[in-house]
Amino acid sequence: MTPPPAAPPAPPGPATCRTAVVRAVGTCLPAPVVGNDEVIALGGLDTSHEWITSRTGIHRRRYAPPGTSTGDLAVAAGRAALDAAPGTPRPGLVLLATTTPDRPCPATAPDVAHRLGLGTVPAFDLSAVCSGFLYGLVTATALLRADVCRSVLLVAAETYTTIIDPYDRDTAPLFGDGAAAVLLRGGGSDEPGAVLATDWGSDGSGGDLVAIAAGGSRAPRSGSPPGRDDTYFRMRGRPVYAHAVRRMTASARTALDATGWKADDVRAFIGHQANQRILDAVADRLGIAPAHRYGNIADVGNTAAASVPLALAAALEGPGPPTSGAATLLTAFGGGLTWASATLRWPAVRPNTAPAPRA
Ligand code: ACO
Repeated sequence: MTPPPAAPPAPPGPATCRTAVVRAVGTCLPAPVVGNDEVIALGGLDTSHEWITSRTGIHRRRYAPPGTSTGDLAVAAGRAALDAAPGTPRPGLVLLATTTPDRPCPATAPDVAHRLGLGTVPAFDLSAVCSGFLYGLVTATALLRADVCRSVLLVAAETYTTIIDPYDRDTAPLFGDGAAAVLLRGGGSDEPGAVLATDWGSDGSGGDLVAIAAGGSRAPRSGSPPGRDDTYFRMRGRPVYAHAVRRMTASARTALDATGWKADDVRAFIGHQANQRILDAVADRLGIAPAHRYGNIADVGNTAAASVPLALAAALEGPGPPTSGAATLLTAFGGGLTWASATLRWPAVRPNTAPAPRA
């Protein structure tokens, strides 16, 4: 068995307590890499590679092959995380954060748990759009602290290509598909990978800013077949941008304060990969130096719930990952409106990458 990594110089933090500890990270990205010019050609969009890169930081993204579901990506990422941590107690819960479940009913998580061979473990979907992974982390941390279970498989998976209108230049260039999973177990708050403090919130008055209009009980699908606008994801970019900067900055500050850290202590900042300008604005307002900011938006675009854990996995792979135990700040913002943040010690794990699903 590999000896545990040497204890890192601990940044100031709360007294040692039981909490969630990141034990393994697994990822699954579909193979097809789709560049900006391809997205533009696909939808005949009135935009340019230059506009997309300069306004968002996105250069390319992955598209799941037709027939690949969110559940397929979730199973692959979940299996990769489980395989990376033999000996961890079998998950006592499977949580799936997603905006794009395989079906409106039932939830996708029980099927994911079944396909992973996890028997009759409880499993449920969590819907908080781009804040989904961090909402899941807050939930899992609370359950592990309360000893409801000994470990949790938290998966975040999306196939936004199934809800994006390829002809809508406001959204089509932004999103991509992918999945990431973290295996969490109960442990001490002084360990690498330990979650220290969390913050979460919502503001339903902005619910129309990021939405799929129909398909729910308020507005069942109209027409047969459904109208083109009914079931596509729409976003009012400009107001969402302003909310995202304001909410992520405030939430991150709350989590830092609860930990007893200053922005100066942070050695790894990862925000929701929606827009590089938003990420820079949040990090600048918090006062986090550019050297400590990590992200992969250029390569995967906005993968919604999967965005933060995929960026975490990319940073763990390096080059130049933070040292094990380093002060880490995660923050996200999404439709709902929702937002959440967490502080943790940088995990001492290597992400396990699942093979891309076949078409
Ligand atoms: N190509 C060219 N021009 C465009 C494009 C495009 N793809 N999209 C918008 N424009 C135009 C607009 O029409 C507008 O033109 P006008 O000035 O003549 O009216 C101009 O560019 C500026 O529009 P803005 O909307 O102000 O553009 P902005 O710089 O804000 O960028 C973007 C748009 C990228 C969508 C940005 O607003 C953004 O990133 N918003 C937030 C995204 C976010 O945080 N998402 C997280 C939540 S999403 C979720 O939960 C799944």
